Amino acid sequence: AMAAERGVAMATCTAPVNIAVIKYWGKRDTDLILPINSSLSVTLHQDQLKTTTTAAASRDFTEDRLWLNGKEADVGHPRVQACLREVRRLARKRRGGGEDTAALSLSYKIHIASENNFPTAAGLASSAAGYACLVSALARLYGLEEELSEVARRGSGSACRSMFGGFVQWQRGERPDGTDSLALQVAPETHWPELRVLVLVVSGEKKPVGSTAGMQTSVETSPLLKHRAEAVVPERLSQMMRHIQERDFEGFGQLAMRDSNQFHATCLDTFPPIFYLTDLSRQIIALAHRYNAHHGHTKVAYTFDAGPNAVIFALADTVAEFVEVVRRSFPPATNGDQFVRGLPVGSAVLSQELVAAVVTEPVPGAVQYILHTKPGPGPQLVDDPSQHLLGADGLP
Ligand code: DP6
Repeated sequence: AMAAERGVAMATCTAPVNIAVIKYWGKRDTDLILPINSSLSVTLHQDQLKTTTTAAASRDFTEDRLWLNGKEADVGHPRVQACLREVRRLARKRRGGGEDTAALSLSYKIHIASENNFPTAAGLASSAAGYACLVSALARLYGLEEELSEVARRGSGSACRSMFGGFVQWQRGERPDGTDSLALQVAPETHWPELRVLVLVVSGEKKPVGSTAGMQTSVETSPLLKHRAEAVVPERLSQMMRHIQERDFEGFGQLAMRDSNQFHATCLDTFPPIFYLTDLSRQIIALAHRYNAHHGHTKVAYTFDAGPNAVIFALADTVAEFVEVVRRSFPPATNGDQFVRGLPVGSAVLSQELVAAVVTEPVPGAVQYILHTKPGPGPQLVDDPSQHLLGADGLP
């Protein structure tokens, strides 16, 4: 009680990025962030990609404040406010309105600092990890123990899936109040130990339309999106769950590619159309198909979100060879020594036949670097107080 009265109460968490293999695109309620279809994702390992967030409360703070990657940001952002409000509401409910003097006062102002272990400029989906981390840190601060994907969803739809590790479903739910629109773990990160992920970080280019605005235009104008949500996704979701349960890479990979392609088809079907895929994306897509055709089965699978980076799924025994194929196709312009980052990648010698069949005219510098990672766990509490992003004075 003494500490809470005079000092600063603090909690730090980390949270992962996730990549959807059955895509979320379209809301039926834009305020509550309720989707028109369920989605399914793979949570990526935090050793390579993570957000760290410290949440602090003190009677001495005079206003709520937020710092993102060291710079002060707008704490009044409606989605940040929605998460704060929901966490505080749950904390109040938990205390049953009674005066628990040991518990942190809900009237104290909050300081929040958040940073990514990867460059924001890389255009890697950071809002999912960011809101999952915000909600996890706030929950710790207030001593909440319940499942909070419903709250993370209020920050960003895809953030609810970052509340779990491994393979995660966001079930669309039926209720208008959103209480059944939450994330569920389909299988833990240990379920498929051979599965690997390569993020091909492409050079330059900012995304033209943000996902929030883009998906709204799609809901309003694309008949294909309506068809997808009603008639395609329900079937695909159960198929994808089966492929994951059976660790069937062929089935998993093919369906992931098809679903990414259909998502981008709905973007083209949006009016005015939205283009997230670039010439380079199309080159990577064609490369993956030539590679699979050469081997006679699906060894790599691509997926693209609302930006130009490609995410490739493969099994561990394919990574070295495919990375070499990418290096030959998109030779690094500079700092070639840092071309492959993350988990170690072995060396591979490509056969003449493979090179002839798969590698076409090289495009130097098009891929900035490759990040090698794998499925990983959900949000983690950081115990070590030296890791807090805020000092004892509650400032970064
Ligand atoms: C293409 O979760 O970023 O990455 O709910 O408006 O914050 P908001 O959108 P967001 O959309 C992600 C779209 C996607 C597909 C996916 O992650 O499922």
